[in-house]
Amino acid sequence: MTGRPDSIRWTPPGPGAPARCGPWLAAAAVLVAACSSGPIAPDGQAPVGTNVEHLPAACAGAPTPPSTLDCTGLYSDIVAKQLNPGVEAYTPAVPLWSDGADKDRWIRLPPGTTIDTSKPNEWVFPVGTKLWKQFVKDGRRVETRLWQKVRDGFWVHAVYAWNDDQTAATVSPGGDVPFGSGTYHIPTGDECEKCHRGRTEHILGFGQVELGLPGASGMTLARMVADGRLTPAPPTTSLVIGDDGTGAAAPALGWLHANCGITCHNANSNSTGFGAGMNLSLDPADLDGRSSAAFAPLHTTVGVTVNTPAWNGRVRIIPGDPTRSLLYELISNRGMGKQMPPIATSVVDVQHVALVQTWIGRMTPVDAGAPPTEVADAAPPPPDAAEPDAPEPDGPEPVVVADAGSPGEVDAISADAPEPDAGEEPDAGPPPDAGAGQDDGGTADDGGSGDDGGSDDGDVDGGVVGP
Ligand code: HEC
Repeated sequence: MTGRPDSIRWTPPGPGAPARCGPWLAAAAVLVAACSSGPIAPDGQAPVGTNVEHLPAACAGAPTPPSTLDCTGLYSDIVAKQLNPGVEAYTPAVPLWSDGADKDRWIRLPPGTTIDTSKPNEWVFPVGTKLWKQFVKDGRRVETRLWQKVRDGFWVHAVYAWNDDQTAATVSPGGDVPFGSGTYHIPTGDECEKCHRGRTEHILGFGQVELGLPGASGMTLARMVADGRLTPAPPTTSLVIGDDGTGAAAPALGWLHANCGITCHNANSNSTGFGAGMNLSLDPADLDGRSSAAFAPLHTTVGVTVNTPAWNGRVRIIPGDPTRSLLYELISNRGMGKQMPPIATSVVDVQHVALVQTWIGRMTPVDAGAPPTEVADAAPPPPDAAEPDAPEPDGPEPVVVADAGSPGEVDAISADAPEPDAGEEPDAGPPPDAGAGQDDGGTADDGGSGDDGGSDDGDVDGGVVGP
């Protein structure tokens, strides 16, 4: 893949990298990395001097993205946790499972701008948009993540780790950090991109499906339309996932969309699992209550055999038989190279995996060789048909893997892991230049791409996410 990168991230400088910041930052190598680029960019940021984002005075001249959360404009008072004007909270209808962490999310759209929603599954955000996601574990803020659009087709991302007294957060390269009696894994830049490549604009939880299904709150689809922030306004703001005859499809399909579909398994050719041809994402145009029997998450899974040698002959979903369905097996395991999603989780989402178990269990078994569509169109089973496979009251036991999230597991997604579809993916690994994120030398493209002030030196990684 060539051409200018459409997203960048920070990596720490190598040993001996020159410190180009003030002494208040020079103490931490990570911060040195984030200090080395230019002043706040003229595009994607408030022009220097106008400060419409109410940034602290100390943030003047900060790089993009800045080295401290304070300078991203999330809070007007980070100690009091007071949000800046224009920063709006939202919760997607179905969140990504994060091993039980609580998450808060916010968006800031530049005043007077709208989101281009002409492609319902691939919203295009105005330059200057920022989204944050904050992770709270055991009542403590641990990390806050940022995506920021700095110009057309070009985003930056960063993650900020909170200090012990919860008064500040500074940019982190990711990795395991001490937490309580154990560790907490902050995703590395490569990990961010593996998931966020799933959409061209990288934003996964702020879209038509995620904000339009029941359960979304804050900046919902209805609220966005009412505020005139979507162009064009979608035909409906209340989406519904129809049933497929099992009486259990909607929650299962919603969970699969958020946890597998919007990230890796969808129709965007840049998504990490695209080559598998398994599409677990929902199309907003379908969510008017019509039967889901013909939706992609069914016809690319039910009765479909994988080609991956490691899973030779296995079928993604065997109607009526969750335990022999590879999809179910992978979402209900962790570790040993046998888990889905393959990164960013070491604990099974017991409650929601049980929904998938119930859904598959209620599908009417078919004779081997019957086309999947017959399964999908099957009539509802008798009420007790699901009993043999119904989940135990408390579902499968969570499995905690001590080293989950280690680099070894990260690699598992990219090439030869026994992901059901990995072997089918000609492009399963990161794009050739995304791997450059492992080193911090920067690429020639990095500098060339930069009128954003944040990509004008070798400290900025040149991971290419987009096409
Ligand atoms: C395992 C996949 C995965 C990884 C790894 C990951 N994300 Fe995400 N991220 C998601 C999904 C899915 C959502 C939307 C659902 C939600 O908010 O719960 C999301 C939401 C976000 C949001 C809110 C805006 C949006 O896209 O919806 C931000 C900001 C964000 N992630 C930043 C990051 C950064 C920065 C990293 C790396 C440090 C990262 N993420 C790593 C999957 C991932």
